[in-house]
Order: sequence, then structure tokens, then C-alpha cells
Amino acid sequence: MTVTAAASPSNWPEDALRLNAICPYYTMFPLDFPLQQLAAHSTATRVLDPFCGRGTTLYAARLAGLPSVGIDINPVAAAIAQAKLIQLTPGAVVRLARQILEGGMRGEIPEGEFWQRCFEQQTLLELVTLREALLELSTPASAMLRAVMLGILHGPRNKHLPSYLSNQMPRTYASKPGYAVRFWAKRGMEPVRVPTLEVIERRAKRLLEAAPLAHGGKVYLGDTVETLSSLRQKFDLVVTSPPYYAMRTYVADQWLRSWFLGGPPEVPYGTHGQIARQPTQEAFIQALAEVWAATARRCRQGARLAIRFGALPSSRTDPEQMLLASVKESKAGWVVKEVRPAGTPIKRKRQAEQFGKAGSAIDEIDLVAELVGLRR
Ligand SMILES: C[S@@+](CC[C@H](N)C(=O)[O-])C[C@H]1O[C@@H](n2cnc3c(N)ncnc32)[C@H](O)[C@@H]1O
Repeated sequence: MTVTAAASPSNWPEDALRLNAICPYYTMFPLDFPLQQLAAHSTATRVLDPFCGRGTTLYAARLAGLPSVGIDINPVAAAIAQAKLIQLTPGAVVRLARQILEGGMRGEIPEGEFWQRCFEQQTLLELVTLREALLELSTPASAMLRAVMLGILHGPRNKHLPSYLSNQMPRTYASKPGYAVRFWAKRGMEPVRVPTLEVIERRAKRLLEAAPLAHGGKVYLGDTVETLSSLRQKFDLVVTSPPYYAMRTYVADQWLRSWFLGGPPEVPYGTHGQIARQPTQEAFIQALAEVWAATARRCRQGARLAIRFGALPSSRTDPEQMLLASVKESKAGWVVKEVRPAGTPIKRKRQAEQFGKAGSAIDEIDLVAELVGLRR
């Protein structure tokens, strides 16, 4: 399929898109955005997303038959994004999970009421065992199993075949322990036994049976400016969405998934290098400018940079003005070609909707720039 033909997700069978939905992630953008950018820049050969989140851009590049690189400072994002680049049969994932579970239970069960109420005892043992084993593995099968686990770790309870391992919880973020315990206690909700291997098997089949061919690439866990300075490749298409100013919740809201990846069994409240932690708008603009400058250094002349950006209603900022200022401040040769409303369909989840529960959401914008002069 050519890049142009792939420009809309509707051009793909629904089952070829399932791997992209392996695990929800706050503030993911819809697949249409990177697919449209790929179609508009059909000579692209290698794609970069310096704030890759759950890897939507990387999956679009895979659909378009191109290699891609993603960078994110959040381990949960990087683990999900990594799976978007892997080619694997469902059987390989299930075999690894079975092998780990048959190897005997190990790992330390976290203490406290939250853990007793969130997972049934045997399910928790299996979960802890898989966590412990995966911490030591770095194969494609372990990366895929890790992402599958992140996707099934918590979510609503099903009446019939279970899809999630936890007691009732949202899928997109993990409730804070105190709140969750009160919620379950008030409703008399005890955790039920969920056979982990069965859920893994069903999920792996669903995600991988019709996954498109992978075309290579890599995901880096770390700060984007630091990582970009250590890369060798050159890119000709960059599609990305930085966190909105003052958005700091990526780590705390994903605390249960962070625990599965080796983090502490409680909510970490730090901001861990998140670019949006800057104290002032000016500092944030400057931090973004450094990212666009570092990106330019890894791009070819004529490269296209497409950015989706918005604002939290509570932050009272003008996203267009902020983004334009950051591109200008980068002094890196990016020439803005277009700024227009993102025109995201109302039903699609957007950063502004997910976080801006109070007040009216500010519309997102798409900015497109071209690298015309390389000033170093
Ligand atoms: C809006 S989200 C990207 C979502 C992505 N477009 C998707 O579809 O999933 C922004 C991401 O930037 C990441 N981020 C924040 N500061 C960063 C930094 N200094 N270096 C790398 N990534 C960073 C956050 O962890 C978050 O995952």
C-alpha cells in the first residue's frame, strides 16, 4: 500500500490497527494525524517523534512502510511505543508467558490493602512473577509481553470473559490507592480470580494476528534533547505532540503501570524530567525551542516538522502563540508553512478534553514547518 493510500485509518482493515491500541495512554493523538503527514510528505524515508508517547507516529510509519524513531522520558510510554515496532506471532508471546509462569512463582508481593483488593491472590502472584522475570529480559518477545501486560493490567471488570487483571478501575489511568480502596469497599467489590495466561493469550491473538509488517526503528527512553544529540540517523519527517504547558500528570497517573516496569509500589509524585514542568511560560517556550533545534540537527534539508499542540484550559495560555514563539526561538532553520485548527473529530480524545475537566477546552492546532536553512 502506498503512503497516500494509507493516509486514513479507514483504508486499513480494523484488525491491522489493533496493535496500535495495545495500551491506552493519556494524551495520545489519533492515527489520522501522522498518517496525513506521511501522505503530505510522500518522499519521507525515516520518521521521528521526539515526544512519542505510546508510539502513534511510529505505528503510522509502520503502516506506511517506513522505519521510525521515538523518544519519551516516561518508561510507560516507551514500553508501549516499543511494541509498535515489533513483528511477532501471538504464539511467541504466549510461549514466553507460559515459560515464565511454569518456572515457579517469584518476586515480592507488595504490601497493603490496595494490593489485596486490586488483584485476587493467585492473579497477583502471577503478575508479580511476570514482572520480576520481565525486568531481566530484553528480547522482542519480552518487550511485546511487557506491553501486553501494561494493556491488561487494569480496566473495567467484564461480566463474561475478563479482559483486565484488576478489580474495577479505569483503563486510561490508575486510581490512587486510597480512593480505589474506598471505591471498592463502598460497593463491596472483591477482586475475582482472573487467569493471567488466558487473558494474555486472547489479547496477543487479537493484537498480533493481523498486524502489518514491521519496518524497523527504535524507541529510546530518556530526555529528548539528550537523546537526539547521541543519535546518528537523519530524518526527513518529524510528527509530534509535546505535553501542553503545565501538564505534569504523566507519571503519577500511570503509577500502577510504572510499578509493573520496576517502579515503586506507590504513587511517585515527581515530574522526572517532564518538559512541561517548567515554572514559567517563557521557560517552557525556551525548553521547546531547544527540542526543535536539536531536532533540526538530526534532520535533512527540506525535512517537514508537524506539531499538534494545545493548552490546558486552566493554564490560560495561547497555544498558537507559544508554539510559534518556540519555533522562532529555536533559530534552527524551521520555516513555518502552516498553522491551522487540528479539526480533531469531537469524539476523539484530546489532551484538552482529558485534563481540562473544568472550563472550556481550548482547540488544538497543527503547525507545519520546513527545514530550509541549517543554521548551526
Ligand atoms: C502529548 S504526549 C505524546 C502522545 C503521543 N503523540 C501519542 O500518540 O501517544 C507527550 C509526551 O512527551 C513526553 N515527554 C515530556 N517531557 C519529555 C522530555 N523531556 N523528553 C522526552 N519526552 C518527554 C511525555 O512523557 C509524554 O509521553
